[in-house]
Amino acid sequence: MDKLLVHGKGSLKGSINISGSKNASLPILAATLLTDDASIVRRVPDVSDTNYMLQILRALGAQVERSSGTVRVEPGEILPEAPYDLVRKMRASICVMGPIMARVGRAKISLPGGCVIGDRPVDLHVKAMQGLGAKVVMEGGDIILSAPKGLIGAEIDMRGKYGPTVLGTDNLMMAAVLAKGTTVINSAASEPEVVDLADFLISMGARIKGAGTRCIIIEGVDELKGIEHTVIPDRIEAGTFMAAAAMVGEGVTLKRVRKEHLEAASGKLLECGHLVEFNESGTEVRIFPGETPQGCDISTAPYPGFPTDMQAQFTALLAITPGISVVEDTIFPQRFMHCSEMKRMGADIKVDGGRAVVHGVASLSAAPVMASDLRASAALVLAALAAEGTTEINRLYHIDRGYEHIDEKLLQLGGAVERVPA
Ligand code: EPU
Repeated sequence: MDKLLVHGKGSLKGSINISGSKNASLPILAATLLTDDASIVRRVPDVSDTNYMLQILRALGAQVERSSGTVRVEPGEILPEAPYDLVRKMRASICVMGPIMARVGRAKISLPGGCVIGDRPVDLHVKAMQGLGAKVVMEGGDIILSAPKGLIGAEIDMRGKYGPTVLGTDNLMMAAVLAKGTTVINSAASEPEVVDLADFLISMGARIKGAGTRCIIIEGVDELKGIEHTVIPDRIEAGTFMAAAAMVGEGVTLKRVRKEHLEAASGKLLECGHLVEFNESGTEVRIFPGETPQGCDISTAPYPGFPTDMQAQFTALLAITPGISVVEDTIFPQRFMHCSEMKRMGADIKVDGGRAVVHGVASLSAAPVMASDLRASAALVLAALAAEGTTEINRLYHIDRGYEHIDEKLLQLGGAVERVPA
């Protein structure tokens, strides 16, 4: 188990490439199961979550080869059971449910366990499969599904208590592409990762309209074929480095981004008084800290709103931005674990019922802190870069789940970080 030592009060300068999106790669890798042909997926980030997904695909019987960012999956015949040992490591494992149901007509998926960012039920995933005609029983910690006559298209509303569900929409879309007839997904998630999955499925031969809107219409087809695909850039990794560049940058350029996916993050940086400049094609962004930054309010929302996955990192930014900022997470109201750790570094943050009131302080100071989840750990890294002294961040495996070589990228930008065995 590694820890990260961050020597603060340095500055970041120069350019890095943004990796392929973790959250687009996971469902796309699951979708390779929808045919027995081989598919090739490029720019899959080398993070532990994508490795877990590849282990699950292997456990389901697929042949998997990985060579840096390129993954080749040849599923052949697949097994219908996703084992608990693997599923418990990653909640996103649930997104093999749709493809298994589409291919085999029955599935046994372990119920993912608890999650530190909040209660994460799977009722909408189950509702989606039931909507397509599957029978579902819960038994011994497993979700057991069967559709002996195959899945049948239907009109299904995927809105939950906190809005649309991303992986739920993905699961339904993946199940519906091989179902009989037409499926209409109302209140669908419209995140770029859902669109990337839809693009992947369309290239495989699926008939999907409306991805990226709240209503997706799918005409089932008899079979799909293997294809090659390059995943979209990781907008959350980009947003994380944008926040870092505003906090401690002296001109940082991020390459391989998509401007249209970064409007919420750049909007907030501009509102705080920082400079954000995209190149003409929108594939590179350069960030300079503003001279007189000021706090702003953030409320997370489904795309194109401000992403919950960037909330922690922007809270770190606001912790050292003059003024009072209010940060609200409407999607995961309990996702504020990073605040208690940042308070140990001198941040002035009060968390109450899904909201954090942040009084920007002049400076933070180093302290040993504990990463609690992926984005919380990224927030701690940002806070540490801005802090006085050397911060020790423990439980680094959280950050390795979703940030490809973050220490190397920070070093490339001149950050003083060291990964050491704990
Ligand atoms: N929800 C339900 N019932 C369900 C499913 C979800 O009530 O059956 C609720 C959730 O509890 C939450 C809301 O719906 O309040 C939205 O959750 P969603 O289902 O969209 O989350 P997810 O699909 O499981 C993905 C990302 C998360 C990201 C969320 C929200 C992947 C692999 N994960 O999760 O990413 O926070 O969407 O945008 O795509 C991360 O990368 O750090 C991360 C947690």
